[in-house]
Amino acid sequence: MNQKEIIRLLKDMSLDEKIGQLIQLSGEFFSANDISIGPIEKLGISKKMVDLTGSILNVVGAKETHEVQERQMQKQPHHIPVLFMSDVIYGYKTILPIPLGLGATWDLKNVRQAFVNAADEASAAGNHVAFAPMVDVVRDARWGRVLESPGEDPYLNARFAENMVNGLQENLKNKKGQAACVKHYAAYGAVEGGKEYNSVDMSISNLFQNYLPPYKAAVTAGSEMVMTSLTTLNGVPATASKALLSTILRQKWGFDGVIISDYASIFELIKHGFAANEIQASEEAINASVDIDMKSPCYANGLQPLVTNGQLDEEKIDQAVLRVLNLKNRLGLFEDPFYGASPEREAKSILTSSKRQLARKLSQESLVLLQNDNHVLPLNKEQKVVLIGPYASRKTLIGMWAIHGNPQDTITIADGMKRFIPDLKVYQGTDLQRSKKLLKNLGFLNEKEIAEAVSTPKQEQKNNQEALEAAKKADTVVLALGEETYEDGEAGSKTDLRLPKNQRQLIDQLANLGKKIILVLINGRPLVLNDIKDKVDAIIEAWFPGTEGGNAIADVLFGECNPSGRLTMEFPYSSAEEPLYYNHLSTGRPESNSQHKGRFVSKYLDCPSGALYPFGYGLSYCDVVYRSLQLSANEITSDQDIKVSINVTNTGKYSTTETVQLYFRDEVASVAQPVKRLINFKKVQLKPMEKKRVEFVLSLSELSFFDNTGNEKIEPGFFTIMVGPNSRDVSSARLYFAG
Ligand code: GLC
Repeated sequence: MNQKEIIRLLKDMSLDEKIGQLIQLSGEFFSANDISIGPIEKLGISKKMVDLTGSILNVVGAKETHEVQERQMQKQPHHIPVLFMSDVIYGYKTILPIPLGLGATWDLKNVRQAFVNAADEASAAGNHVAFAPMVDVVRDARWGRVLESPGEDPYLNARFAENMVNGLQENLKNKKGQAACVKHYAAYGAVEGGKEYNSVDMSISNLFQNYLPPYKAAVTAGSEMVMTSLTTLNGVPATASKALLSTILRQKWGFDGVIISDYASIFELIKHGFAANEIQASEEAINASVDIDMKSPCYANGLQPLVTNGQLDEEKIDQAVLRVLNLKNRLGLFEDPFYGASPEREAKSILTSSKRQLARKLSQESLVLLQNDNHVLPLNKEQKVVLIGPYASRKTLIGMWAIHGNPQDTITIADGMKRFIPDLKVYQGTDLQRSKKLLKNLGFLNEKEIAEAVSTPKQEQKNNQEALEAAKKADTVVLALGEETYEDGEAGSKTDLRLPKNQRQLIDQLANLGKKIILVLINGRPLVLNDIKDKVDAIIEAWFPGTEGGNAIADVLFGECNPSGRLTMEFPYSSAEEPLYYNHLSTGRPESNSQHKGRFVSKYLDCPSGALYPFGYGLSYCDVVYRSLQLSANEITSDQDIKVSINVTNTGKYSTTETVQLYFRDEVASVAQPVKRLINFKKVQLKPMEKKRVEFVLSLSELSFFDNTGNEKIEPGFFTIMVGPNSRDVSSARLYFAG
């Protein structure tokens, strides 16, 4: 339809019909035999408004969406097609590594292509909008949703944001794309204490400099939608924040797409103590410019009375409805409400070998080699290797937010390793998690599943002994440990970041046998490893590696590919250090170079400062030497970029991929600046013994900061320019800006 026809349609719609376009409900309201009375009563919404609902959450499948679309359009007075939206966050059926693992690839190009693939699968299944990318900057590993984010750095998250949006939306025109919905706007990752849904409070300069850039990058890349955060920011719920939604997002950034609330977050304005009832909650949200109310009764019950009693101008509703109709029109739904989806196309699109290959490549690249004492890795096929651990043969490698993925499609670690050692012996050794209380707290397992997950003491003892006996006969143990899937993700906040006690006990028992131990970790957040790192020879952080995880892990273990992952979130010495991040301020008493000595500096009495494994860190099977950092000039001006260059040499016998990282520090500014900030990086392929000169072009604009009015500025003075393989081991040079 053209814009005139859209406007005509809007004018022809009743108020109830318009409000229906601003409601999103989940699948149980739209089942074939209309048994939706239960959910209707539970949510407190009328059948009339259910029939007018304009978008549906988490109904997928070409057949299912076709049927629901047909039924819903028949009920609509103008037969307006509904939007299907779903959590396709890191893959639909071909599940990628979790985004914290995708972040560790620093591979923007292949991540973008992987999101093209995810959009192809999801669109074939009739979905229109992916609730992705999640690009919240995350600095606190106690928060379970760190798994969903590319990491802690604003610059890197912004680059992933634009590439993920471009990947999802690349094929929108031919109905093989997904409208992106960047989330959670804004700063959800800064929940106090890493405690889920908790308050967020920060300075304006911190918000603009460290938390907003990824959302802005997504909007600039053309994200069709934005989802509001469930949390407050400086006391105002994001879902009702005129500052965030109207002033910054719509006016300053020019976003004219659809804003959707997060799940029930309009209703939750009441729980926040920000609205007295559903009507006031509706008024706050619509006036802040939230277009669609996800899964709450507010808009359905509250907008109409607001208009009839003169509290709300119907024009406000018209603006929101127009944005929703325009999105449907851009997706071509008025011409083809079924979006080209069909069971045949769906079957051909999912889990293809090319999609699996790319998932495997990204899974390989996501693996971070944290330790490799005495070069125990890579393994060779002649070694006597035994695989032990609860993740040895477990298919649940896809993480908590792969809600449409099927673990049965997953390649296990044992599957992958048997390509190299066909008669590999595999032992569980211990349970994944033996605390029934914690398993119950996860909220996803029923009594039967909990009972099955926790072995009897006799069975645990047997599993343990068998594994130890097998280890005695081997020379190398690959030990696959980690977190239970639902210990991470939404509502997965934890205060203790160590592996479970029973897993740490197994490490102790194996360490006493004097065998080489390769620890492979399957988890969704940084863990505390300093109490086990000296008991094992090598550590591979594998995250939840996705459908092809077992193949990728085996490929790295046996040297088919050289690990190249680099952390995008720091690993602490202790859970109590959180939040922990590399781009911190110096403080007046920095531990390293303060005028104070000994006690009176910024540190803990009982824990080393900083990270066990810092941002950007990761090893490979060969060492790369960095030398001769040079700046093309010692002074930078607004019209004269400078070149930053450095030599990198692969001194090993394997080809390798090195991620050369460029950081800077603004040494003196009217708002104290971080000790370093990432502003660029380059992935460089190096053959054995190969040397390359890596060059960055640096513009003055990249050295700006935000003050506490949200203004971006650059002040005269010295800047330290740093280059290195991670945020800790850097070479530096000084640069001057005269102003
Ligand atoms: C959840 C999440 C959000 C998700 C939405 C729909 O509560 O916060 O990320 O997209 O609801 O499932």
